[in-house]
Amino acid sequence: MMESLYIHIPFCEKICTYCDFAKEVDSQVKKEKYVHALIKELSMHREKLSELQTIFIGGGTPSVLTISQLTTLGNALHKVIKMYNIKEFTIECNPSDINEEKALKLIDIGVNRISLGVQTFNDNHLNFLNRTHRLKDIESAVSILRKVGFRNISVDLLFGLPNQNMAELRDDVRRVLAMNVEHISYYNLILEEGTKLYNLVQNGEVDLLDNDIEANMYEWIITTLSKQQFDHYEISNFAKPNYEGYHNVLIWKDADYLGIGVGAHSKYNNTRYANTSRLKYYMESIENNAFPKYETYPYEPMRDYLLNGLRLREGIDLNSFKHRFGQSVFTFYPGFESLVNSGLLAIDNQRLYLTHQGLMYGNTIFGML
Ligand SMILES: C[S@@+](CC[C@H](N)C(=O)[O-])C[C@H]1O[C@@H](n2cnc3c(N)ncnc32)[C@H](O)[C@@H]1O
Ligand code: SF4
Repeated sequence: MMESLYIHIPFCEKICTYCDFAKEVDSQVKKEKYVHALIKELSMHREKLSELQTIFIGGGTPSVLTISQLTTLGNALHKVIKMYNIKEFTIECNPSDINEEKALKLIDIGVNRISLGVQTFNDNHLNFLNRTHRLKDIESAVSILRKVGFRNISVDLLFGLPNQNMAELRDDVRRVLAMNVEHISYYNLILEEGTKLYNLVQNGEVDLLDNDIEANMYEWIITTLSKQQFDHYEISNFAKPNYEGYHNVLIWKDADYLGIGVGAHSKYNNTRYANTSRLKYYMESIENNAFPKYETYPYEPMRDYLLNGLRLREGIDLNSFKHRFGQSVFTFYPGFESLVNSGLLAIDNQRLYLTHQGLMYGNTIFGML
């Protein structure tokens, strides 16, 4: 049963210093053609969409779509999906794209959750990251979104920015708390090959923060948000009660999902699929009525179950794992015993989960699987 739909919009107004997601600088002609290609791809999967519970439009920057493009896409979704069954419909937005007309259009097409790419409230860092917005745009975006009626706003933030100090981090946390949003995704900046930041670091022009400083920042974020009613339910995600990101939680709990658009990934029929990440090939395939698939990977149920389930603070249920796969987690991956012994993983009430200390090494632990 396909529970979730992801739609990728690969356009951005400017390219951020640190980002290696599938995206390119937006152009009106390309956006227009792309929206039509998406609609065609959507109809190619029509029969899979009857049981959907969540929709997530991500990017790139979906909010660079014009009102008319959002209307076209929204109408197409309403034609092929039973929208009254959709529990959560999220769209990623950049603060500088939000105006009242666009926000109202988002409500009109059924969006009920906004993921706002704030990254930091500090104008100097925003400038270095090549973001299009500044502090004043964040405040204005949130007040417009509230005014038109959005009751579920998530904010994306980054920590571990080059030259960021503890006082600046605290200021970001203070400001996000003052905005009184329902959900916060707080990511540790990752240095991705091929980005402008990568070259700056390679050439010695920019230094990254020490791991110790980043660990202190992460610790401080967890402690402070937890004191303010935010449940730290996933490595990078914090939610007020009942505001966990349902789309992502479904995927971490192994639901089937369909991704459409350039570079989008899917999982169904016990198989993982990836669409081509080249816009040109994507458009050509759709024009020729062909699925724009680039690769399929065998689904590795036990590994995927662990990789996804351990991201969640509640971890995985050891009995369910054994029941489902016919062997214990420790038979499948004996290395977990030493992780439990060294305090990075813990077991409580038959649940295996990352400890506070394990959270700091989450990516290393996942890399071992
Ligand atoms: C790919 S973006 C799409 C949303 C929107 N374009 C934006 O930038 O706000 C989704 C999120 O990924 C995170 N992200 C992108 N590049 C990252 C990196 N190198 N390290 C950590 N997080 C990153 C950012 O926080 C961003 O909000
Ligand atoms: S972080 Fe967001 S806005 Fe910046 S380049 Fe990546 S997708 Fe585009």
